[in-house]
Amino acid sequence: MGQQYLPAPRSDFIGIENIIHLATGGEPPLLTCHRDAFEKFALDKAEGMSGYARHWELVEGVRNKIAGFFNLSIGDIALIGNASEGIVKVLSSINWQEGDNVVISELDYTSGRYALGNLKRLGVEVRLVPKTGWYIDTDDLKNACDDKTRVLYLSQVNATTGQFIDISNLSEHLKSSKVAFILDASHALGVVPVQGHLADFTVSSCYKFALGIHEGIFAWNQSRTRDFIPFGVGWSSATAGKKRDDFFLKPGAKRVEYGNAGHLGAYLLNESLDYLNNFGIQKISSHAREMCKKIIDGLKTNGLEVITPTASHEIAGNAAFAFNKPEYFVKRAAEDGILVWGDNNRVRISAHVFTTENDVDVFLGELPKYLS
Ligand SMILES: Cc1ncc(COP(=O)(O)O)c(C=O)c1O
Repeated sequence: MGQQYLPAPRSDFIGIENIIHLATGGEPPLLTCHRDAFEKFALDKAEGMSGYARHWELVEGVRNKIAGFFNLSIGDIALIGNASEGIVKVLSSINWQEGDNVVISELDYTSGRYALGNLKRLGVEVRLVPKTGWYIDTDDLKNACDDKTRVLYLSQVNATTGQFIDISNLSEHLKSSKVAFILDASHALGVVPVQGHLADFTVSSCYKFALGIHEGIFAWNQSRTRDFIPFGVGWSSATAGKKRDDFFLKPGAKRVEYGNAGHLGAYLLNESLDYLNNFGIQKISSHAREMCKKIIDGLKTNGLEVITPTASHEIAGNAAFAFNKPEYFVKRAAEDGILVWGDNNRVRISAHVFTTENDVDVFLGELPKYLS
């Protein structure tokens, strides 16, 4: 542990010594140091009130580390159940009017499409922006917005194609509007820099390149958006008011932590973030991009329809190709001890800190036999 060079040794991870793991976009392995983190959590938990206080101290430290990854401040960060509920927390804060609209690419993630689609019953128009081939063009999203647009949702890295989207221009365009820009960093956190400072809200799952477990992160960029009152509230998100049913919302993002944050998940994520910080996000993104580029080239050589952009600055940790029997492909590869991810008519191959050139070569060498 603590070594600075990539690729990282497989022995830093649990359960991948004898396999080629190219499925981090779906489920990465956990770190061996997570075993100690669990032990630490269990020992603190056994200590009653003082141990519980230590849980919260650790959560605070994790918020701080996440803020670094998101380019935001510690007070902007909350730990929640999952990314999907984070999207709904933002939507719950808006006083919807008939005729309002929301914008999302038709190629973007299911939770965003469903959460926005759910607003139709309030008379909100959902503007599903058509994709251009497999590519999301931020100009198309920009052009879909008008003075009735209240929310725009976009994944920093697209879950289907792996496209990394630089949101700088879009962010600038939306800055002075009343659009709440929700960035989903689920496939970005832990592998490329997250542009959380350029969105109003950022949500992320923790269980992909962040190397945590199934929990979520919510960020409220208070330097960009001042007013945010989620519809929900609970003991943890507010302090007592004058009467028993009065309360004051906590300042900052803690107002979306209605109850306990996931303490065990925080102990694990704490280790994951330290581990990733040992390398630094720039080094990680260069390595992942280099590996993905090699995968993309190999897929192309095999005549496959690659749906990931080829330019390095438009990729992150995933490379994907269209394929009509993805589950079959995944199963065949797994029989050889090679893990990839496949659904929705495409196969996704991921590269992360532990991915080696040899892993990629072996995968590409075996690939033709999984196609037929
Ligand atoms: C972009 C994106 N957002 C959210 C999720 C789901 O995360 P969660 O289960 O934390 O809601 C995924 C899962 O693949 C995803 O790709």
